[in-house]
Amino acid sequence: MNILFAASECGPFIKTGGLADVIGAVPKTLAGMGISVRILLPAYPALARVVAAGEQVWATDSLLGGGARIVAASAEGLELLLLDAPHLYDRPGNIYLDPKGRDWPDNAFRYGALCKVAAEIAVGGIGGWKPDVVHAHDWQAGLIPAYLKAFHGAPPTILTIHNIAFQGLFDPSLIGPLGLQPWLYHMDGMEYFGHLGFLKAGIAFSQKVTTVSPTYAHEIMTPEFGMGLQGIITARGADVVGILNGIDLDIWNPADDPLLPRTYSARTLQKKAANRAEVARRFALNDNGDAPLFCVISRLTTQKGLDVLLDVLPGIVSRGARLAVLGSGDKGLEARFATAARKWPGSVGCVIGYDEPLSHLMVGGSDAILVPSRFEPCGLTQLYGLRYGTLPVVSRTGGLADTIIDANPAAIAAGTATGFQFSPVTAFAFEDAINRTCEAFRDPQLWTSMVKRAMAHPVGWEQSARAYKALYDAVTGAN
Ligand code: ADP
Ligand code: GLC
Repeated sequence: MNILFAASECGPFIKTGGLADVIGAVPKTLAGMGISVRILLPAYPALARVVAAGEQVWATDSLLGGGARIVAASAEGLELLLLDAPHLYDRPGNIYLDPKGRDWPDNAFRYGALCKVAAEIAVGGIGGWKPDVVHAHDWQAGLIPAYLKAFHGAPPTILTIHNIAFQGLFDPSLIGPLGLQPWLYHMDGMEYFGHLGFLKAGIAFSQKVTTVSPTYAHEIMTPEFGMGLQGIITARGADVVGILNGIDLDIWNPADDPLLPRTYSARTLQKKAANRAEVARRFALNDNGDAPLFCVISRLTTQKGLDVLLDVLPGIVSRGARLAVLGSGDKGLEARFATAARKWPGSVGCVIGYDEPLSHLMVGGSDAILVPSRFEPCGLTQLYGLRYGTLPVVSRTGGLADTIIDANPAAIAAGTATGFQFSPVTAFAFEDAINRTCEAFRDPQLWTSMVKRAMAHPVGWEQSARAYKALYDAVTGAN
C-alpha cells in the first residue's frame, strides 16, 4: 500500500517540535509492515543538499506566484518528495516566522501550495507512483481534502491533529487566489468564525481524523481543550481516533547513544552517574546526591506550563534538588529562567536555545524530567524519560495522562508506577508532585524499581503504526 504524507516538518532535516520526530519516525516502522510512505515536504534551505542529490520528477511554471518543481530523494531511510518553490520557501531562519518573529505574511500561500501539490500527486500520481491514501499532518496540510473535492475518484484523506492550538486561520478573500472552490466556505466546511480555516477544512473534509493520544481525542471534544473546534470534532464522532505517538528507538537508546558520555542499560544504572556529573558541569550545578536533578527540555510557551515551574522554584531549591532547563520561545519566560539561574547558582541552571545533543545528555544524566503542560496532545520528552530511566513528573492531561503511571500508594503497592502525575496545573499541585518525587528518591529501592519499570515500558512505534495501518485498511476497504 502507498501512502503520501504531507507535512511542514520532518526530522532529522527540519524541526521545530515533536511533529518533525513523528514524521521522521513512523514511515520507518510502517515500511516493515509493507507500507510505502513518501513524504511531501517544502524544500526549505536546510534541505538544499538533499535536493541537490535528488531527481526532478515534476515541474510547473506557476504555483501560486512562481515556478516550482518536485525533487524525489532518499535520505536517512526516508523517501522524500521535496517541493522546491524558491518564491515560497527559500528564506533564512525559522520556517514559519519572519526575522522579526511574526508569521510570514504569505503563510497561506506557502502551505496552500503544499496542499495543492499534494492533491495533484494524489490524483495524478508522480513518476509512476500513486498513493492509496493521503495522510495530512496539522493545519499546514489541512486544505488537501478541500482541493481534492474538485476531483472524482480521489484517494481518501486522513488528517492527524498534532496540536489544535495552531489552526491556520486566514482572510477568506484568499479563497480565490488559492484556487479553492468558494462553495466549500461554510460553517460545516472550511469557514471558521469568518476566517478561512486550514485545520477546520481538514477536520471537515477528511475521511478520518486522528490525534496523537486517546485522552487528547476526548479532550478536544470539550470547550476547555477544543479551541473552538470542539463542535465539529464532536460531530465527526467515531471518525475521530486517538493514536499514541512513539519515539524512534534507534535515536533514543541509552545503551547506544553516541551523545552520552557513558551509555547504560537497566542492568548498569550506576553508569548514569557519569552523565549526571556532566549535566551538573554543563549547567554549573552542585553535586548533591541526596536530592534529584530535574530537567526540562521544551518550547517555552504557555502550553508547557513552565510559568508554574518558576513559581515552585523556591520549593525545589529548598529541598536541595537541582534543575537544568533547556528551552527557547517566549522572551518573557526566557528572561525569567535566566534570572532564576542567577538567583540560585548551583541549584538552577538554564541554557536558552535549541540544542539536540544537549537534550540527549540531559535525558541521560538527570534523575527526573518535568512536563507540567496545561495541555499536551502527546508529548515526547516524557517518553524519552521513560526509556532513559529519568522519571517523568507530568500534569495529568492528554498524552501525558496516557503514558505515565502515577506513583500513588496503590500503584506503588501493585508495582506499576513509572512516574509522577499532578492535576490541576497549579503551583500547589506541582509542588506536591515534586515533593513526592523527592521522597521517592530518598528510598533507593523504590526509586530503582520505578526506573527499571520505566525503562521496560514500551515507547516505540510498533503498536501505533499497526493502528495507522488498520486505519489505512479501513479507509481503502482493504480489510
Ligand atoms: P512539542 O511538539 O509540543 O514542542 P513534544 O514533546 O512533542 O512537544 O516534542 C518536542 C521535541 O522538541 C522533543 O523532541 C524535544 O526534545 C525537542 N525540543 C524542544 N525544545 C528543545 C530544545 N530547546 N533543544 C533541543 N530539543 C528541544
Ligand atoms: C505537537 C504537540 C505534542 C506532540 C507533537 C507530535 O507539537 O504539542 O504534544 O507530541 O505535536 O505529535
